[in-house]
Amino acid sequence: MREETNALSNWSLDNIPLDSIDHALVENREDLFYLVVAASFVEIASDLYTDNLAKYFEGDHEVVDWLVNRWQVEEIRHGRSLRAYARHAWPDFDWESAYSGFFAEYSHLCTLDQFEPTRGLEMVARCVVETGTATLYQTLAQQTEEPVLAGIATRIRADEINHYKHFYRYFRKYNAINPAGRLRIFSAIRRRLFEARQDDAVCALWHAYLIRNPAANAGKPQFRALCTQLGRQVRQHYPITMAARMLLKPLSLPAGLARTVEGPVAKLTALVLRH
Ligand SMILES: [Fe+2]
Ligand SMILES: [Fe+2]
Repeated sequence: MREETNALSNWSLDNIPLDSIDHALVENREDLFYLVVAASFVEIASDLYTDNLAKYFEGDHEVVDWLVNRWQVEEIRHGRSLRAYARHAWPDFDWESAYSGFFAEYSHLCTLDQFEPTRGLEMVARCVVETGTATLYQTLAQQTEEPVLAGIATRIRADEINHYKHFYRYFRKYNAINPAGRLRIFSAIRRRLFEARQDDAVCALWHAYLIRNPAANAGKPQFRALCTQLGRQVRQHYPITMAARMLLKPLSLPAGLARTVEGPVAKLTALVLRH
């Protein structure tokens, strides 16, 4: 473990040691292939979100400046890092063609009407999204023994937690001016958790799958089976308690109550993951 940490300490997401990939640990790992490629699609397409978000928060220079100059830059860097990894680890995969299919469909899913009714509640929804990404990369880091991929996932996880902290801080700023009340905050969490972004992952997985299986049809049993299998593998390593804590934080529950509901929320998170 110590050797692994030392070997990884000299690089960043801008300088990934792709020549050090241990191909034997990834070439037959379909689960890693689909998770890495799907994540690279959604991350690279995040500029669609940034434009929409920047419009939504127009006039709040602090938020817009952070979204455009930090958040977007980091999300796209995540996508490019994962793309570079996918190209080296699975060189036969036509990333560009799969991505253009994904983008054509995905760009229609990202519209302004998906935003919450108030800026404060939208910040809550963004906290839910960053909880999802932070926990997903933690899962990816634990699901692989390949050190370069584990290093990428660990670094992206840290960025996602940092994004969460920013959105949470901005939520507090808006909530201090115009308090939403716990019920509305809870509804925003639930809405984002249940309704929204699951489509992103399925859309990304579908286009990765389609390039590998050109004769596939939407809803084909093999694709559904693949999604079920991936869900099962992700659940094995998913940090449910971490997810529950992050999801509950905007509710500002008293410490005792937060501890009491953490268990049921963790179970609910596990249920959501079963979809
Ligand atoms: Fe990201
Ligand atoms: Fe993020």
